[in-house]
Amino acid sequence: MLSILNKTILILISLLPRKIVYFFAGRYVAGQSTSSIINATKQINKLGFSATIDILGEHTATLEESKTISRDYINLYQEIENHALDSNISIKPSHIGLDISYDLCLENLLLIADKASKTNNFLRIDMESSKSTNDTIKLLKDSHTKYKNTGTVFQAYLNRTINDIKKLEYENVNYRLCKGIYKESEDIAILNRKKINDNYIKILRQGFSMGHYIGIATHDTELLKQIYSMINELKISNDQFEFQVLYGVPMHGWLEKHLENNFKVRVYIPYGKDWYDYSIRRLKENPNIIWYIIKNIFIKNNSK
Ligand code: FDA
Repeated sequence: MLSILNKTILILISLLPRKIVYFFAGRYVAGQSTSSIINATKQINKLGFSATIDILGEHTATLEESKTISRDYINLYQEIENHALDSNISIKPSHIGLDISYDLCLENLLLIADKASKTNNFLRIDMESSKSTNDTIKLLKDSHTKYKNTGTVFQAYLNRTINDIKKLEYENVNYRLCKGIYKESEDIAILNRKKINDNYIKILRQGFSMGHYIGIATHDTELLKQIYSMINELKISNDQFEFQVLYGVPMHGWLEKHLENNFKVRVYIPYGKDWYDYSIRRLKENPNIIWYIIKNIFIKNNSK
C-alpha cells in the first residue's frame, strides 16, 4: 500500500514544474553556482562544522564531459584554498567517467587528487551502487599509492563490507561509513533496518579495532545512541572519527550534542546545475525519502 502511494507521489512530483520540485529538493542543495556553494560553506564553517562539497551529477556519458567536470573539481579545490574554507570534496566515480571506462575515470581521479594534494586537501570517492563497488575500491587503491589524501565510502547494508574493511591494510585508512542509498537485491544486501544497524555497529567496531579513521555518516537517532555507547566503552579518541551529515537534514539536537562532546562534524553539501536530475533520481532510487521530505516540510511549517 505504502509502496503504491510512494510511486504515485513520485509520478506526481515528476510532472511538477521545476520551480515547485525545487521547493521540495531546495533545502538539500546549496544553490547552483560557485558563489552559492562558497557562501553556504562559509555559513556551515561559521557554525563550527567542516564540510565536504559535492558537485551534483552522475553517469557522465562522454569523454569531453568527464574532462570538463574534472576541471570543475580542480577549480573547486582552488576556490576552497582561495576562500580558506574548511572543506574537502566528495566525488562520484560515474561523474568523472567510470561508465565510459575505468582507465578514463582513474586518469581524471589522479588529476583531481594531485590538485587536492597541492592544496593540502582531501578527496573522498563516494560509493555508488554495487555494480561499481569493486571498481571504486580499486580506484582508491590505485590513487592511494600515490596520493595518501584519498579515501572512500563503505555501505553497511552490503554483506561484503565487513570483509572489504578487514582487507584494508595500507596506512592512513580513511573512509566514510553509511548505510547505503541504492536499491540492492537481498542476495547481496541486508534489507531489514534493524539488521543494517547491527551490521553498521559490527563494521564500526572492526574499523576502530584496526585503527581506521572513520566518517560516521548517519542521521539515525537510535544508531547514534549505540555509537555513542561504543565510543565511550572502547574509549575511542576523538581524532579517530568524525560525524557526517547531509546538508538540510534535521538532526534533532544531535549536531549540538556532537559539538558539546568535542566531536568533529562534517556536512555534505551538494550543489550545481544538475540538481533536478539528481533529486528525481534520488527519489526514484529510494521513494521513502519522499516521506522524509514531506515530514520535514510538515515539521518546518508547524514550527513557524
Ligand atoms: P535512516 O535512513 O534510518 O534515516 C534516519 C533519519 O534521517 C530519517 O528518519 C530521516 O528523518 C532522516 N533522513 C535521512 N536521509 C534523509 C534525506 N535524504 N532527507 C531528509 N531526511 C533524511 N550513501 C551511499 O550509498 N553512498 C555514499 O557515498 C553516501 N554518502 C553519504 C554521505 C553522508 C555525509 C551521509 C549522511 C549519507 C550518505 N549516504 C551515502 C546516504 C546513506 O547511505 C543513507 O542512505 C542516508 O544517510 C540515510 O541513512 P541514515 O543512516 O541517516 O538512517
